[in-house]
Amino acid sequence: MKKTVRPSVRKRGGSRPADFRFFATTAPGLEDVLLSELRRLGATDPEKAVRGVSFGGDLGMLYRANLWLRTATRVLVKIAEFDARDRDRLYRGSMAVAWEEHLTADMTLAVDAVGGNPEIRHTQFASQVVKDGIVDRFRDKVGRRPSVNPKQPDLQINARINGDRCILSWDSSGQRLHRRGYRPSFGGPAPLQETLAAGILLMSGYDGSDELIDPMCGSGTILVEAAMMAKNLAPGLLGREFAFMSHLSFNRRLWSNELEDARRAVREVDGCTIRGSDVSEDSVRAARTAVLGAGVDDIVAVRRADFRALAVSEGAGHVVTNPPYGERLGEINRLADLYSDLGDTLKQRCRGMTAHVLTGSKFLAGKIGLKTRKRDILWNGPLECRLLHFDLF
Ligand SMILES: C[S@@+](CC[C@H](N)C(=O)[O-])C[C@H]1O[C@@H](n2cnc3c(N)ncnc32)[C@H](O)[C@@H]1O
Repeated sequence: MKKTVRPSVRKRGGSRPADFRFFATTAPGLEDVLLSELRRLGATDPEKAVRGVSFGGDLGMLYRANLWLRTATRVLVKIAEFDARDRDRLYRGSMAVAWEEHLTADMTLAVDAVGGNPEIRHTQFASQVVKDGIVDRFRDKVGRRPSVNPKQPDLQINARINGDRCILSWDSSGQRLHRRGYRPSFGGPAPLQETLAAGILLMSGYDGSDELIDPMCGSGTILVEAAMMAKNLAPGLLGREFAFMSHLSFNRRLWSNELEDARRAVREVDGCTIRGSDVSEDSVRAARTAVLGAGVDDIVAVRRADFRALAVSEGAGHVVTNPPYGERLGEINRLADLYSDLGDTLKQRCRGMTAHVLTGSKFLAGKIGLKTRKRDILWNGPLECRLLHFDLF
């Protein structure tokens, strides 16, 4: 019989120990902004780690984390931690978990692994051993076993092996959280990941109250993420599904309440405060599609223009942009003038504002010719980038 786990749901801010321990993953360099996001959400004992933040909470916290986090890639729920110094211990530890609280023999599963130790050197080997432990337990207990579906499993399990220890978790997000659903899969040249765009905005100090400009907006990721912040619109409200909805612990009423709270939290913003432009007609079209897809067209305007013709209105606050940076030497050399013109434009037209420029080229960063207040290293997928902070006097 299907056993449903329904952990008691606490009111926010209660003093009992957290029901669960979670781990929100993110791209390198975004751990601090993710930590701040989790503190604002009321997570219990958030702790920064490499590429993520661990935190505690109840089932409501899990739903809020998936619904609200702008810089997390996925949220893992810790199931067990045990000695896994060799194959045998990893197998026995995996078999000892009460998997029937997480899935039934009719459901499908997949296991991914990270890390390793001298005895468990390959992640593929680790995931195979964990999977064997799970299915053998089912075979022993119920005479049938769940099958493996690597592409679209009902339950995605993550094994993290570090030294002698293994932590097993289940993935509550499913499709990565940067897939908000507002951008078609092809979104102009080199689109930024939504989580990275949100991270840059949070690192820039943008809080949704001033005007924001992206003069090389491409498919509009920075514009849409900024608009969602200005409206206090939870990224998870855009209609996507989450893996926790097919977990045995899913509490539909609790999820509806969290959705309702998020809908009520959306703010009205007066007038258009976010402006984007791009020299390419295709990019402008892609950006308008994304803006409409996210339902933020009431506060975002996009037009076709060269950034050199940037018109800045009185009281504008932030420029946040991601110019092209090329990957081959010839392209990089050709872009030197564009960066030098960007520096001149910022200096001459954006006095009193802050500017944040994300670029994948150190050489081109230097061509801007303005003094940076700060530089952060971030990653756009596999590409190391720099976020340059400028105060424009
Ligand atoms: C790296 S892409 C920006 C990607 C964007 N952040 C996104 O998420 O889709 C750089 C953009 O700069 C635009 N661009 C290049 N030269 C420009 C210029 N002189 N004026 C305005 N836009 C320009 C390109 O058309 C391209 O869309």
